[in-house]
Amino acid sequence: MVTYIDAASAPLRNTGVIRLYNEDAFANMRRACQLTARCLDALVDIVKPGVKTDVIDRFVFEFGMDNGALPATLNYRGYTKSVCTSINHVVCHGIPNDKPLREGDIVNIDVTYIIDGWHGDSSRMYPVGEIKRSAERLLEVTYESLLRGIAAVKPGARTGAIGEAIQTYAEAERCSVVRDFCGHGVGQVFHDAPNILHYGRANEGPELREGMIFTIEPMINLGRPQVKVLADGWTAVTRDRSLSAQYEHTVGVTTSGCEVFTLSPGGLDRPGLSG
Ligand code: MF3
Ligand code: CO
Ligand code: CO
Repeated sequence: MVTYIDAASAPLRNTGVIRLYNEDAFANMRRACQLTARCLDALVDIVKPGVKTDVIDRFVFEFGMDNGALPATLNYRGYTKSVCTSINHVVCHGIPNDKPLREGDIVNIDVTYIIDGWHGDSSRMYPVGEIKRSAERLLEVTYESLLRGIAAVKPGARTGAIGEAIQTYAEAERCSVVRDFCGHGVGQVFHDAPNILHYGRANEGPELREGMIFTIEPMINLGRPQVKVLADGWTAVTRDRSLSAQYEHTVGVTTSGCEVFTLSPGGLDRPGLSG
């Protein structure tokens, strides 16, 4: 059975119950999410051929410190970096290291800042120099998948409506949807109920209610959907080594739809793509 609880009276851990947040909470989420979005904006001028992902990690840490925010991934379940950097066939949870980015790479940068206990979780794809047309198409399909998922959010719909919108579109574009990772409730807890699947049917999953806050973060592959996790325990890659892309927004359910908390203040939600 699915249960919902006023976030103000819920324990600060994932108990499987869905938190409903009030207008004060929405204001706090705007702050955390807009800092995350500003960081992702600033990274547009930093990501280029030759830059090591460790430099991106350092930037995300310092930007947080300068703005009163802690990166949520730092020491999260044994993860020791401030950001995930997932390159080419890496699906998610790529660990920053001292290898330089190369012309033609596509890299997902996933940042979560915590301000006063509130989590703002977002990621974007960054083309490194000139990329192939096939890679550009994957980025376009993946961002459009996210937008279609967001458009399905309204009170009374089920979480499955988000998954159906994403899967129907991505597969029509001859791409595949990763099943092994999903979006999640977020707010006062980093990874909270409910899971937001990026595939499925509109009549599945819990009902969306005003005040829910969660991420939508589809991972879309040019090849097959299967992934495997490398020996480091984190890095997830496509089994067929095909290119994978992901964009992530944090949204809050309103009376008529949703508010996207992590929209770019600089209009840079899709770095390197038009529109
Ligand atoms: N930010 C990721 C997400 O979108 C989670 C990263 S957890 C880490 O949910 F430990 F891998 F960093
Ligand atoms: Co997330
Ligand atoms: Co994230």
